[in-house]
Amino acid sequence: MDTIQLAAVSVISQVLNNGRNLNQVLSEVIRTIPEITSQQRGALQDLSFGTLRYYGQLSKVLDALLTRPLQDIQIRFLLLVALYQLHYSKAAQHAVVDFAVNAVRKRNPAASGLVNAILRNFLRKQEQLIADAGRTEEGRYSYQQWWINLIKSQYGENAEVVLLAGNQRPPMTLRVNHRQTTSAEYLNLLTQNSIKASLIEPDAILLEHPEAVDKLPGFMDGMVSVQDAGAQYAVCFLDVKDGMRVLDACAAPGGKSAHLLESAQIDLIALDKDELRLERVRENMLRLHLNATLLQGDAATPSDWWDGKQYQRILADVPCSATGVVRRHPDIKWLRRASDIENFALQQQQILNALWPLLEGGGKLLYVTCSIFGRENQQVITDFIAGQSDASQIPLAATGMKQGQLLPNDQHDGFFYALLHKKI
Ligand SMILES: C[S@@+](CC[C@H](N)C(=O)[O-])C[C@H]1O[C@@H](n2cnc3c(N)ncnc32)[C@H](O)[C@@H]1O
Repeated sequence: MDTIQLAAVSVISQVLNNGRNLNQVLSEVIRTIPEITSQQRGALQDLSFGTLRYYGQLSKVLDALLTRPLQDIQIRFLLLVALYQLHYSKAAQHAVVDFAVNAVRKRNPAASGLVNAILRNFLRKQEQLIADAGRTEEGRYSYQQWWINLIKSQYGENAEVVLLAGNQRPPMTLRVNHRQTTSAEYLNLLTQNSIKASLIEPDAILLEHPEAVDKLPGFMDGMVSVQDAGAQYAVCFLDVKDGMRVLDACAAPGGKSAHLLESAQIDLIALDKDELRLERVRENMLRLHLNATLLQGDAATPSDWWDGKQYQRILADVPCSATGVVRRHPDIKWLRRASDIENFALQQQQILNALWPLLEGGGKLLYVTCSIFGRENQQVITDFIAGQSDASQIPLAATGMKQGQLLPNDQHDGFFYALLHKKI
């Protein structure tokens, strides 16, 4: 286990010290341990995600246990990983402590006594230490204070629910490819394979427990994809019909592009700024047996890539703070800066302004973010409409709502939707 603890320390250190993406670092670290079993891989993922998910709380606990600051930041990370294990996992307590002590002995023998004392002290006073950590908001919710303040000012008495929802383990949801099967047939197939699941939206099947994709029947042949139910609303809201010319302006990795193609016979142009991420769209299209025109380009500068033919529908799933999906990406909670939000809003505004002339009169543009901050959501839309005489915000399909702010819950992640109509 100490190999896995140390691997988790390496992941956390690269995320927090070097500002790197958790999923990328995790894959790289896994590649450095060729003998890793699938069970150990799962454990490493749990330790890395869990420690970052509760980093605010665990840091407060550790600070209360230290009489003076630790000089070696790697030992601090090791202690945080061990505290996560002791408080949140089912691992045997004595084993967690022994492995942490052994791991630190290899690195800095002089510190092993301190590590032993801190972890044993935690076990003795666990309840009190957790309660004390909860007296500060960072310790109670495990977010940066500016983030907590923003959520409180926006969501008032609902703020705690929103913050705590971001610390849950995310659900795993599938999207059924209706070109290959029906939701009812696929649910049956899951039952035959002893995978418990339920249908929560017309194309969305929620799994009772997350599964590796290679265990999902027909996954490799394109029968289903993994996609959050909140992301699946895009297709219903955009209201595409056979024969339409549609632009997905920020398409990678292609989840919504593929869903659009699964639901209607359309001519789809999938654009993304990032060539590498566009490769993911290509792979997804291949697996699902779908066809789209893939273009590398910046949605904010259409003169570089646009062929001059207007679109009847545009999906603008713009870059954003991703604050609605932190339970899938807990690194975001610690890497985002308050100033990022304004920068995203400016980028979003530029993309909207640039895409609007590409939309045919009578056409619709669906603006999407996975943010829960109003600055990137309704405020961008309100500012945009104020500057356009031919744009209006219209209700989101059958919901009748104009503002589609979804908050993370046990069925879906946090998303924002706004549908814009262009005058003829
Ligand atoms: C939220 S993700 C899109 C997810 C995608 N729609 C899906 O459902 O799978 C945002 C994407 O926008 C791309 N992007 C960021 N800035 C862009 C820009 N200026 N022009 C085009 N794509 C951009 C990113 O590379 C990223 O792939």
